[in-house]
Amino acid sequence: MMDRYDFRNKPSVLIQGAMETETEYMIARLLDAECVALGNWRFHTGFLGKHREPVIISRTYQGMVNAAAATSLALAHFMPRAVINQGIAGGHDPQFHRGDIVLGERVVPMGAMLYGFAEAGAGIDADDFKPLPIEIYNRRAQTTEKAIDFPCDRRLLELAEKVESPYRTARGVIGSADEWNNQLDRIALLRRRYGTTTEDMESAAVAQLCLSYGIPFIGIRILSNSIVNAEDYDEAVGEDVQKFMIKYVEALQEF
Ligand code: 5AD
Repeated sequence: MMDRYDFRNKPSVLIQGAMETETEYMIARLLDAECVALGNWRFHTGFLGKHREPVIISRTYQGMVNAAAATSLALAHFMPRAVINQGIAGGHDPQFHRGDIVLGERVVPMGAMLYGFAEAGAGIDADDFKPLPIEIYNRRAQTTEKAIDFPCDRRLLELAEKVESPYRTARGVIGSADEWNNQLDRIALLRRRYGTTTEDMESAAVAQLCLSYGIPFIGIRILSNSIVNAEDYDEAVGEDVQKFMIKYVEALQEF
C-alpha cells in the first residue's frame, strides 16, 4: 500500500473555484482524492494531471468574504507553495470574448474606492473617486504596507502563457468586488480607474491574502459573459477553464 501524502507538510498547489461549475471537473479527475472539512469549507486533496501534481481543490463559494475565509483556512492549514484562483468572469475589455481566458498579470480590488467630498444636497457623483489603498500585513517584513493592487507571480504567469490549449489566452488585469456590472459607462469608468480586463467576485480577496503571506498567486479567468460585446452568460465555459487548469498543473513541475 502506498504511503499517504501529507498535504499539511509537503508541497502542494491550492486551486480555487467559487462554484460547482468551476471545480467539479477537476475534483472528478483527482487521483487518491480525500476531502478535508475546515469550518464551512471543503478542501479536496489529491493528484492531478499526467505528472500527478499534488493539489488541493477548494470550492470557496461566491464573493469576497467567502473567498477570503476559504483562503485563510487553506493557507493556515496547508501552507501551499502556490495559489491559483480560477473560474468564470465577465468581460470589460472588448478585445476579449466569451470563452477567452485571461491570465492575470495583476488583480485589483475594484470595490476599494475613495470618494471626494460633496455638500449635502449636491447629489451623488459616481465618477468622483480614486482607488483606495488597502492596508496589508506583510508577514515577512512583519509590518503593514498599503496597496491598491496585487501582483500575480511572474513565473506562474509565464508558465500559464506556455500552456498549449485550444483556448485563446492573453494577459490581463482582473478586477474583483461583490458586484456584477452591466452599465457600460460604469464599466468604462472602472477600466479607466483600475485598468480592468475582466471582473469577478473573488480573485482580489485571495490575492490580497497571498501578498500578505508571501505566497505566489495567480488569477486565471475564462469569460462566461461580456456585456461590452453583448455576449450573454454561459456558465458551461467553467469546464473549459478547468481543462486548461489540468494542462497548467502539468506545467507546474517547473515551478
Ligand atoms: N461580474 C461579476 N462576477 C462574475 N462572475 C462571472 N461573471 C461575472 C460578472 N460579469 C463570477 C463571479 C461569481 C459568479 C457570479 O461568477 O466570480 O463567483
